[in-house]
Amino acid sequence: MGGADNRRSPAANNGNNTTRNLPLDPVINLDHGDPTMYETFWKKLGDECTVVIKGYESLSYFSNPKNPCWFLEPKLEDSIKCLHDAVGNAVTEGYSIVVGTGSSQLLQAVLYAVTSHDQPSQINVVAAAPYYSSYLEILDLVRSGLYKWAGDAHEFNKNEPYIELVTSPNNPSGVIRGPVVNRDGGVLVHDLAYYWPQYTPITSKLDFDIMLFTASKCTGHAGSRIGWALVKDKEVAKKMTKFMEVSTIGVAKEPQLRIAKILQVVADRCKRFGSPEGDNFFEFSKNMLAKRWEVLRETAKKSEMFILPKYPLQHCNYYGEITHINPGTENYLIMVTAFAWIKCKDEIEDCEKLFRSHNILTRSGRRFGSDPGFVRVSMVGRDEEFNMFIDRLSKIQDL
Ligand SMILES: Cc1ncc(COP(=O)(O)O)c(C=O)c1O
Repeated sequence: MGGADNRRSPAANNGNNTTRNLPLDPVINLDHGDPTMYETFWKKLGDECTVVIKGYESLSYFSNPKNPCWFLEPKLEDSIKCLHDAVGNAVTEGYSIVVGTGSSQLLQAVLYAVTSHDQPSQINVVAAAPYYSSYLEILDLVRSGLYKWAGDAHEFNKNEPYIELVTSPNNPSGVIRGPVVNRDGGVLVHDLAYYWPQYTPITSKLDFDIMLFTASKCTGHAGSRIGWALVKDKEVAKKMTKFMEVSTIGVAKEPQLRIAKILQVVADRCKRFGSPEGDNFFEFSKNMLAKRWEVLRETAKKSEMFILPKYPLQHCNYYGEITHINPGTENYLIMVTAFAWIKCKDEIEDCEKLFRSHNILTRSGRRFGSDPGFVRVSMVGRDEEFNMFIDRLSKIQDL
């Protein structure tokens, strides 16, 4: 992880007594998508989401022995269903829900569940570049005998079984995606971490075979480490559950109960649009992100050093239900993604290096199987961090 050390300016360590204690130009770490931006909303709600767990509660390994996913808290199952239903972004009826320690653990569980110890060789795992950098990192670390990283899905031309990870909206680029290999013998895993109305128009209720979601990106509670999978095939869900059982004997109950409460609070208010209290989480977050994007676009335009992606306007079924505010325009949203996928002007070969020389840590396009002329910048940090970033960006004149 970024580490607290990064927060000190290199100038602060140069032995020069006149600058040692000055917090000038601290390093801004925009490498991780740490969703601290959402603190503002949750602070407003005060104690409403407080969950009290007494010393004698939640001792058992089991949450619901009748559920094939026996460690899934019934309250969490209910609020997941309730939220998807209210937002209209995914079908839950007929699906098994498997809870995980973040969707990062669920990804490993899926890969285990859709492969077999009887297969003659490792199954290829692909994702279209630019792909979420952790896919490669996880697979490289695990070095499983069941599957192996096979790189960019656009370049996959082997006539062999494969698993394609489809991230939509995509991390890092924010683009809405579908599978690219489209061949027999493939298993699709849809990573829908960002398919929520603050990031993207909700265009349909998705019903893919395997869909991954996470509280980290939905409500910003990354520290609770709760993700969930909606899985059509009961056997796949059972195998995923087995993976959790063997690796961690389930998922901690405390964060499940906390996220159950949070999701329920979001669901209960997510149909109230334009309320003066501003208590619709998605509306609040979308507005906050939209403002940031506006400032970023203006700054990039003035500097002529950076190019930002353009996204098409699309109808959003979720906000489409508002008819009383600006009819005709309000239903169409511009995407305001969680990351800015920035391209530096052509003369700059290493965009990450340029940003680093201005004490801004970003993630290089290289890490996403793409070009070093790109960087990914988190848009979901705290206000101070974002404002500092914009200030510094506006001062980057040239090489
Ligand atoms: C596309 C995508 N999938 C999965 C994850 C992992 O989320 P979690 O915090 O639930 O492990 C992330 C986190 O950045 C992500 O961007």
